[in-house]
Formats: sequence, structure tokens, C-alpha cells
Amino acid sequence: MSVLTVSGLSKQYGATLALDDISFSVAPGVRAAIVGPSGSGKTTLLRIIAGFETADSGTVTLGNEIIVDGGLGVPAHLRGIGVVTQDGSLFPHLSIAENIGFGLTRNQSDRDARIAELMDTVELPRSMAERRPHQLSGGQQQRVALARALARRPRLMLLDEPFSALDTGLRETMRRKVAEVLREFAVTAILVTHDQGEALGFADQLVVLKEGRLVQAGPPRLLYLQPRDPAIARFLGDAILLQAELADGAARCALGQISIADRTRRGPATILLRPEQLRLRPDNPEHAGGTGGRIVEVEFGGASSLVTIALDADTSTLLQLRSSDPAPPEPGTHVAIEVSGAAYPFDGTTALEPLGKAKR
Ligand SMILES: Nc1ncnc2c1ncn2[C@@H]1O[C@H](COP(=O)(O)OP(=O)(O)O)[C@@H](O)[C@H]1O
Ligand SMILES: [Mg+2]
Repeated sequence: MSVLTVSGLSKQYGATLALDDISFSVAPGVRAAIVGPSGSGKTTLLRIIAGFETADSGTVTLGNEIIVDGGLGVPAHLRGIGVVTQDGSLFPHLSIAENIGFGLTRNQSDRDARIAELMDTVELPRSMAERRPHQLSGGQQQRVALARALARRPRLMLLDEPFSALDTGLRETMRRKVAEVLREFAVTAILVTHDQGEALGFADQLVVLKEGRLVQAGPPRLLYLQPRDPAIARFLGDAILLQAELADGAARCALGQISIADRTRRGPATILLRPEQLRLRPDNPEHAGGTGGRIVEVEFGGASSLVTIALDADTSTLLQLRSSDPAPPEPGTHVAIEVSGAAYPFDGTTALEPLGKAKR
């Protein structure tokens, strides 16, 4: 059983096909994230589900109710959907309490108590109740927007880049807080974001959009380790992509022989490794047994540094990886490269530029 089912949804703006035959479903209580580059159709999809925009074709079902059927739909305020947008969209002339209570009926006897309770839930001091939105910080305003969206006990919560205007530290705190509140209320939610870290940390299920099409959907771990194509691999994190020759459960490549899960695959393929699978160990090139290379450049980046390596096996191309080693090897040093775990071969024999981004 799923609470939300999107089926064959399409939307065109002039010559732009913003959504092209999108289908997916979200189970009750699940937190899903829709990710994709800017312009891939994320906001359009959310606005159609919310009822702020009409579809050209396709359906959206919420619970047992069809809320979108082609160009027809249930009015937005009757859908039981809570929405939090990037800017919070608070009513500037209303107090915080009035903003949060906006969807509650005027004469509801427990209205004030409910507002106070919602302020507690999102950890807003009750002393702020009479302030106006402009007297709050960005993070506090987003808490108000979240409380307002929760007030009517929505069946589904839609969050469109709600943290993107916040500073890095606050963004993470808010993301955790929102995830915690959604879990506590057992609300099904869809988060839209172009930030892969945010998506991987927040969601139980990812939906990847590209140019209006759904390119892959599934659990974050699966998509991170087994993306359908190199573009999704790069989008979800740092990716090391190598040309390899597959045979007998192994991939032979510039980093030596690396195991692969599928023993039946043979022939040329592009393989994926994640940087956390690689370890660098200073060594002497004369004694070097396995695979190695020479450090070309180390770019300091705080918690991690970007290390560029010229591989012994193929000095014409450079391997780049982020290392969290507090003292990464100096430029000029020769290193052995140890690979742990399996490589993931993509389907087909996509030709791509080898080894990371740089090329000599
Ligand atoms: N109201 C609109 N009128 C015309 N084109 C639009 C409108 N809304 C979105 N688009 C276009 O549809 C595509 C998808 O936009 P959007 O859903 O906002 O993407 P995202 O949220 O992933 O950045 C873009 O090419 C955008 O320019
Ligand atoms: Mg958008």
C-alpha cells in the first residue's frame, strides 16, 4: 500500500517538457527526496502534487483519492497536504502565532493550546508568539513555516528546498529537526533538493530527475553504490570512474584487479569506485608491488583535501580523490593505492573521459 502514487505525469511549458511521463509511489511514513539539477522539473512536480499547478496528463493518487487527473484536480486546500517552500512564504502582516494558526478554525477552543504545542514541537520559544516574521532569523522563520504546515495534520508534507537559504551549520540542524518531527508525527514527506548530501541524509527513498524524466528511484545506499549511469554517480557524490576489462568476477583497470559482484559480466566496461574505498600508503616505487602512483598536487580543504595522483599504469591521466587523512602524502611522494570492496560496472560500454576530471 502506498500513500502517494504518481502515474504518467507530464507537463509542458511552451517548448519545454518540464515533466515527461513521471511515475513513482511513496509508502506511508516514508521520507522521500526528489533530487536533480536545477531545471530538472522538481518544483513543477511538487507544485502539481500540491495543487498549485495543473498537469497536462497523468494522475496523482493520495490514499484512496485521485487528487490529479490530467488537467483536473481537487482544490489545493482540500488535499490535506502541508507545504514548506524555500522562503517559508509566511504572511508578513500576521504574528507568528497567527501564521501557525492560519489553517485552524477561528473558534476552535483549543486553538491557542495547539499553537503553543506546535511552537514547542519545532523548538520556537513561546515568547516569540506575538512577533512578526521579519523579527525572526531565517532558521526561525522556517520553523514557523514547518509548524504552520503541521497544524492541520497533513496526510503528506511537501518540502521544496526548505533549508537552502540557511547557513551550512543551521541547515544540518534544521534537516535533523524536520526529519525528527516528521518521524514523530508519522507524516509521509517529499523533500526536493539539489543538495545530494541533504538528500542522502534525509531520505528513505530517492527519486532522481533529469530534464523532466525520472532516471532512477530507490533507497539512497543503492543509488549511491549502484547508480544507473556515470552522471547519477557524480551527482550523488565524488566518483572515480575507470575504464576496465571485466572477466571472472573481477575488473582489470589502472588500479589493478578489483572484484565485482556479477561474475557473469565480461568485456569492456566503465567501473565506479567511491573515494572512501581507496587508501593511500607512502611506498618506494622500486619495491612497489601492486598499483600506485605519484602525488601531483594536494589542495587543502579543511576536513578533507583534494589529492591528485598520476598513476604508474597510465601517467597520461590523473586520479583525483578527496582524502580525510590529516597529513596526506606530500606532492612528489610515491604512494601505493589499496582498494577495498567491489567496483561497480555500469551497463553498456559508455565511453567517457577517464579518471576523474583532470587530464594532462
Ligand atoms: N511557470 C513556468 N513557465 C514556463 N516555464 C516554466 C515554468 N515553471 C517552470 N518552467 C520550466 O520548466 C523546467 C523545470 O522547472 P522547475 O520545475 O522549476 O525545475 P527545478 O525545480 O528542478 O529547478 C525549467 O526548464 C523551467 O524553466
Ligand atoms: Mg525548484
